[in-house]
Amino acid sequence: AKITYIEHDGREHTVEVKNGLSVMEGAIRNNVPGIDADCGGACACATCHVYVDENFAAETGRASAMEESMLDFAENVQPNSRLSCQIRVSDDLDGLIVRLPESQH
Ligand code: FES
Repeated sequence: AKITYIEHDGREHTVEVKNGLSVMEGAIRNNVPGIDADCGGACACATCHVYVDENFAAETGRASAMEESMLDFAENVQPNSRLSCQIRVSDDLDGLIVRLPESQH
């Protein structure tokens, strides 16, 4: 699926991410800056925080209870905040746009 990551300063990175990978892994493998993923995708660091574009709210689903509690450690959490390591890429997410928070700049 094609995923567009938009950095806090507006720089856009559109990359192709294989189904089955997480949105976080898609950023790391394509050297997209702004996602640190200190814990490597274990839902234990909150440095892979993204804002999901509202048009994809349904496709990306809701945060799990574990993800919700880890998001408490992220800065500037909004209703569309997610941890990108917990979003699995599939065909449904083709065209997904995620914005990266200022704290991961
Ligand atoms: Fe650590 Fe997502 S990579 S919570």
